[in-house]
Amino acid sequence: MASITIRQLDDDLKRRLRLRAARNGRSMEDEARTILRNAAGIEGGGADAGGQRPRPTGRSDSAADAPVNDRNVGTVPGARRVLLIIGGGIAAYKSLDLIRRLKERGLAVRCILTKAAQEFITPLSAGALAGEPAFTDLFDATTELDVGHIRLAREADLVVAAPATADLLAKMAGGHADDLATAVLLAADCAVLVAPAMNPQMWQHSATQRNLARLIEDGVDLVGPNAGEMAEAGEAGVGRMAEPLEIVAVALALLANAAGDGPLAGRRVIVTSGPTHEPIDPVRYIANRSSGKQGHAIAAAAAAAGADVTLVSGPVNVPDPPGVKTIKVQTAQDMLAAVTKALPADVAVFAAAVADWRVDKPNANKIKKQAGGLPKLGLIENPDILATVAHKSRGRPHLVIGFAAETDHIIAHAKEKLARKGCDWILANDVSAATGIMGGDRNTVHLVTARGVESWPPQSKDEVARALVSRIAETLVRIPTSEPGH
Ligand code: C5P
Repeated sequence: MASITIRQLDDDLKRRLRLRAARNGRSMEDEARTILRNAAGIEGGGADAGGQRPRPTGRSDSAADAPVNDRNVGTVPGARRVLLIIGGGIAAYKSLDLIRRLKERGLAVRCILTKAAQEFITPLSAGALAGEPAFTDLFDATTELDVGHIRLAREADLVVAAPATADLLAKMAGGHADDLATAVLLAADCAVLVAPAMNPQMWQHSATQRNLARLIEDGVDLVGPNAGEMAEAGEAGVGRMAEPLEIVAVALALLANAAGDGPLAGRRVIVTSGPTHEPIDPVRYIANRSSGKQGHAIAAAAAAAGADVTLVSGPVNVPDPPGVKTIKVQTAQDMLAAVTKALPADVAVFAAAVADWRVDKPNANKIKKQAGGLPKLGLIENPDILATVAHKSRGRPHLVIGFAAETDHIIAHAKEKLARKGCDWILANDVSAATGIMGGDRNTVHLVTARGVESWPPQSKDEVARALVSRIAETLVRIPTSEPGH
């Protein structure tokens, strides 16, 4: 039977399919399947079969919830290959579900179980779910002759270690290769994603954190761990393995990035996020309540769409998004310098809540409480990063997007801001205390452009990010990519 692969399609068709898939939150393969099912009149082909643009609505929270193969069927020919390394932790049982979730999305999955992992689950169950025998031994005659650790590494588009135990992270950081899992990790030249899982004390231990910092420096991507109850009775804290769907979402993003087949492939995107901290003295600063969740979600969504993303972030408590170059800054001046350095870009999204003012002369020493008097603080205005970039005569990104966090007359203020700052779009939102948007997980935004105002329904910050990214992709379709130096 003849087979069609996305790669064989002509470029224009591929581009249209990519955009449609991004709009609908599906992989290109799933989108093609949906179109075929609809054309053949098979039910369940997707509500947006007519190809009309679905408005960003209450879609599920995670890219991993995108429509999948309708049954847990075999791998699509030419599918991307995930090599799943299962470490020895109680969370290994979740890795069995992870195999299914990855397979459902048309990925080919091969499993390696460490010796300790086999105390928790069997190679038989992992192999049965993956659809091919799981590997366990470095010096297995069959493995070495037939597949071998180098080939296992080379044949993967992505290596995922889940659960990644403290021991596995330590071995990875140290470059050990004394079993099949570590040998493959050392031989892999594709992206590597780790989903740590361990007791909170072990996670917090400086040795683990040191190993992790080393791995991140080496380019390893991280998902989780999450906070919550541990398998051991009475234990709680940070150390739970990320849920399978969270791991799938990051894996899909890394695969899209590596293959350069997302709707923003070849595009450079700069995102600012979080608050800025403006020092008063070495211990005090001016700041605001921004959590960085929306900006980080935009950076993650842009990376998942294949863009080369630089995230310039003020101090936040949210993790660095995977597949994104994150530059951490403190002040508005640092943020402007980092953004300027990151240019040129096709798109710049300014989601940071930059402090409007800074203290003109921060004290070198801690200001003492003075009897009978308050310290005199002189304030000066910070540079407006968005306006600076939007007004550039040379090297201006094709799309400059700002946010307007308002507590009243939201649309009117946003329109005024669009004109004053010289940007192309403003995402306006109501941040009055009652909305819970500042620091919360949901957002209600209005897209204000020169053409008018579009109000999006309340949705999660991840969904806002994905809707914005697909709108950016549609807008950029006819614009050539910016070259460094443009
Ligand atoms: O003027 P206002 O702070 O309301 O403008 C909000 C928008 O401008 C946001 O996109 C924010 O990231 C950006 N901004 C900036 N630099 C500043 C102040 C705001 O980039 N100093």
